[in-house]
Amino acid sequence: MKFQGVTVLAIAARTLAASVADCPGYTASNVVDGNGTITAELTLSGTACDIYGTDLADLKLLVEYQTESRLHVKIYDAGLDVYQVQEAVLPRPSSQDVLSSDAAIQFSLIEEPFSFSISRTSSGEVLFNTNGSQLVFESQYLYLKTQLPDDPNIYGLGEHSDSFRLPTNDYQRVLWNSESPLIPRLSNLYGSHPNYLDHRGEAGSHGVFLLNSNGMNINIKQTESGDQFLEYNAIGGILDFYFLAGPTPSDVSKQYAEVVGLPAMMPYWTFGFHQCKYGYWDVNYAAEVVGNYSTANIPLETLWGDIDYMNLRQDFTTDPERFPLHKMRELVDTLHQRDQHYIMMLDPGIHRVENYSSYTRGSEAGAFLQADDGSGYRGVQWAGEVVWPDWLSVNAQDWWTNELAMFFDPETGIDIDGAWNDMNEGSNFCGDVTCDPAQAAIDGNDPPQPTNAPRNNTGRPIPGFPVDFQPASSQQSRLIQARPDSGGAMKGLSGRDLFTPAYHINNHRGELSDYTLWTNITNSDGTSQYDTHNLYGTTMLSSTRKALLSRRPGIRPFVLTRSTFAGAGAKAAHWFGDNASTWDDYRASIAQLLAFATVHQMPMVGSDVCGFNSPAEEHMCARWALLGAFMPFYRNHADISAPPQEFYLWESVSEAARKGIEARYRLMDYIYTAMYRASATGSPIVNPLFFVYPNDTSTFGIDMQWFYGDAVLVSPVVENNATSVTFYLPNDIFYDFWTLEPVRGEAANVTVEDVDWTDIPVHIRGGTVLPMRTESANTTTLLRQNNFTLVVAPGVDGSAAGSLYLDDGESLDVAGAYSDISFAWDGTTFTADGTFDYGTNAAVESVTVLGWDEPVTRDGPWGLDGPFEFTLSS
Ligand SMILES: *[C@@H]1O[C@H](CO)[C@@H](O)[C@H](O)[C@H]1NC(C)=O
Ligand SMILES: *[C@@H]1O[C@H](CO)[C@@H](O)[C@H](O)[C@H]1NC(C)=O
Ligand SMILES: *[C@@H]1O[C@H](CO)[C@@H](O)[C@H](O)[C@H]1NC(C)=O
Ligand SMILES: *[C@@H]1O[C@H](CO)[C@@H](O)[C@H](O)[C@H]1NC(C)=O
Ligand SMILES: *[C@@H]1O[C@H](CO)[C@@H](O)[C@H](O)[C@H]1NC(C)=O
Ligand SMILES: *[C@@H]1O[C@H](CO)[C@@H](O)[C@H](O)[C@H]1NC(C)=O
Ligand SMILES: *[C@@H]1O[C@H](CO)[C@@H](O)[C@H](O)[C@H]1NC(C)=O
Ligand SMILES: *[C@@H]1O[C@H](CO)[C@@H](O)[C@H](O)[C@H]1NC(C)=O
Ligand SMILES: *[C@@H]1O[C@H](CO)[C@@H](O)[C@H](O)[C@H]1NC(C)=O
Ligand SMILES: *[C@@H]1O[C@H](CO)[C@@H](O)[C@H](O)[C@H]1NC(C)=O
Repeated sequence: MKFQGVTVLAIAARTLAASVADCPGYTASNVVDGNGTITAELTLSGTACDIYGTDLADLKLLVEYQTESRLHVKIYDAGLDVYQVQEAVLPRPSSQDVLSSDAAIQFSLIEEPFSFSISRTSSGEVLFNTNGSQLVFESQYLYLKTQLPDDPNIYGLGEHSDSFRLPTNDYQRVLWNSESPLIPRLSNLYGSHPNYLDHRGEAGSHGVFLLNSNGMNINIKQTESGDQFLEYNAIGGILDFYFLAGPTPSDVSKQYAEVVGLPAMMPYWTFGFHQCKYGYWDVNYAAEVVGNYSTANIPLETLWGDIDYMNLRQDFTTDPERFPLHKMRELVDTLHQRDQHYIMMLDPGIHRVENYSSYTRGSEAGAFLQADDGSGYRGVQWAGEVVWPDWLSVNAQDWWTNELAMFFDPETGIDIDGAWNDMNEGSNFCGDVTCDPAQAAIDGNDPPQPTNAPRNNTGRPIPGFPVDFQPASSQQSRLIQARPDSGGAMKGLSGRDLFTPAYHINNHRGELSDYTLWTNITNSDGTSQYDTHNLYGTTMLSSTRKALLSRRPGIRPFVLTRSTFAGAGAKAAHWFGDNASTWDDYRASIAQLLAFATVHQMPMVGSDVCGFNSPAEEHMCARWALLGAFMPFYRNHADISAPPQEFYLWESVSEAARKGIEARYRLMDYIYTAMYRASATGSPIVNPLFFVYPNDTSTFGIDMQWFYGDAVLVSPVVENNATSVTFYLPNDIFYDFWTLEPVRGEAANVTVEDVDWTDIPVHIRGGTVLPMRTESANTTTLLRQNNFTLVVAPGVDGSAAGSLYLDDGESLDVAGAYSDISFAWDGTTFTADGTFDYGTNAAVESVTVLGWDEPVTRDGPWGLDGPFEFTLSS
């Protein structure tokens, strides 16, 4: 009811308001073309339209040819008051100041009315063009529209659960991070990534990144006369664009990583199989899961602890009865002795009760966001009434680092291997302005539900809070603290309505502040949640990463996060949130994988395998066990309201999982090599078909198949409960991964019938060399001792190439102790060459060359301590 009321009002407000077409636009003057840099002043061309705020009269334009393939176009307020994303959150790349004549893309502008366009130097192809519509730059509204070709191939603008290739008519992307149970379609989800890739086949690919963290609606539409366009409608920030020239799709990915940061290198073990469930109600249950995986002979690498372990749902505590500390230490010791790992959840909401030391220490340190009376700003999360860390403050970082150091102390606490950040959209169970956090936390002894999904707090009830709670005395002294002055410091214009701005973004959770932190809360650095909301998750994961690094210096930290912003891949892994155990979400996970790993540069991603909410059906779970085995992050996870779905619970799922994990583990070093390339160069860890076949128009819309790495084509069964699959094979040679039989792709669909529940069609792309372990193992530690076999899959021209990267799997800086070996096959001679500085006993036992005839195997062994080569005569 409430949502409906709000929507009606917002629509009414919009119809009364003037349209952007009535706005005067800007005139450019003092255009200075300074050798790779262009500056200009932009002045409002007429009477302000003030449709959703106040028009800013004086803007500046800065254009930088930063590299030959990257153009930076920034339109900002002359007074530098308007909020700009903090450098500390997203460091900007420096400009190499190239000459425009050397650049692959060109900027040009029309002075009056001001518009600009970007075109490709080599062909003149126009990539972005704002001509024909006015720029609107108001205190609480930005509008910019670009023309696009007909039926464009646009990807990205995540996070969403829609098709990988975005719809092109009447499609809207809303960027506003929110807890989004069941990952609804056509909605804003947990993360915001305002960048897209535009693929034009033979004319090339380019990328567009709008560095802006404010809430926005992005529309991809056609005018009544059929002209295609994309338009940005943001409620704040500046227009800070990075145009990336490509020309290949993977060039765009790499160029994007140069802007937002190369992906973080992941520890080797994190590519193992992970198991989690909300509802492992005590330490014995959790231990039993590990035991049952062993008994079923399904390799389990990592056990996860959801909020079950916490005392009263408080971070940095364990439930004294169900998860007593000494038992937890025993559990983790046992896991470590078995070469297994343990990861625990940390939520941002800090329980506001006086006898909780993490809270009192945080209050004393000034680590929490403040309400307008100077007390801790309150909301509701799992623990009940909570306060929220101000991740932008040094106080919060120091407090958080210390809390992690104490609780996860290997000698006295729980020696975790990684951390999991959930609820970090700033999910708040206190839904709207009428909600009183203290009351909401008490009601029903349980926080209000974020959805209607049932939950069962098994074991024990979660008690509520004392009604007469008084703020801690340390907080009193901080009352009425002066807020930092934000004038001229890019911290946000003053005088805005930060709670109910006139322009309405279509947040599926309701108003801006519904179910999250109020947007009029001021951060310690003087910025407001209105501008930084979409950064809350990323600043939390960043603080967690720093805390893990401080706890174990030199060891690659592993942080899994639900909420993200552009650049989060440089620090963390991501799962696609609280999906459902449905075929629809099974399918959606492929498009999500492709968008995150390629366009958004977050390689370590995957969905909750077998689905999080609702019961998982056996056959779907068997298929998903195989699907997830070919995605970088592979974790089975379910909600407390869902029946258990560990793979070992069904025989068919066990068999599917054993098969999937065996293939995954044998390919572990191949995908680890792809991870290394991603972290070193930005080349994507997985590839949509059009990344490999950019001129084949049949591939542009495919999001039911993908390359795991760049050589292993995965074509799963995707229809509900089906046993056949129709998939596309480009014009190329492939080899069945399971039988090694050659298959000639003819740029056509092929249908495979009778795909068993425990099977998944996988092909090796011709032209590649796959390094594989000779055998799988029960843990990645044991796997690393196994030898290699190399599978040579000749391409149409008879040649093949591949590579293998090896290091210790965990050092942040391997300091030269790595091997990076290139393999090449020219039809008769095989060579292995490169650097060989990682000491390993593992050897290459054999090399198998595939072909139309029976595969030919040459036995080694060859040590991985130097180059080798041999010739095979037919
Ligand atoms: C532009 O920069 C290039 C390279 O730094 C330099 O050779 C050239 O003289 C400069 N041109 C102008 C007009 O400043
Ligand atoms: C800009 O658009 C106008 C019509 O809206 C057109 O006449 C003009 O040629 C366009 N200029 C450029 C450079 O695209
Ligand atoms: C795609 O077409 C372009 C333009 O014709 C060409 O330069 C490029 O090499 C082609 N790419 C592939 C992978 O065939
Ligand atoms: C482990 O397996 C035993 C024997 O099948 C079963 O009784 C028990 O419920 C299982 N426990 C878990 C946590 O799956
Ligand atoms: C934020 O807005 C709400 C609703 O209008 C108001 O009750 C509250 O006092 C405001 N808080 C701040 C910090 O301005
Ligand atoms: C919650 O779980 C407990 C323990 O398994 C069970 O006894 C109880 O019936 C469940 N409650 C609901 C509402 O499902
Ligand atoms: C799935 O298909 C099998 C036969 O292939 C059938 O026996 C089963 O009932 C189907 N299950 C569902 C949930 O439709
Ligand atoms: C392959 O099949 C899909 C639908 O199953 C269809 O959309 C696509 O056009 C087909 N591709 C070719 C090349 O026939
Ligand atoms: C895992 O361990 C079991 C029991 O020792 C053994 O039978 C099995 O072969 C091992 N699996 C692998 C893949 O090495
Ligand atoms: C690996 O190959 C070497 C050389 O043939 C051999 O000595 C060693 O036993 C093999 N290791 C394993 C784990 O099979």
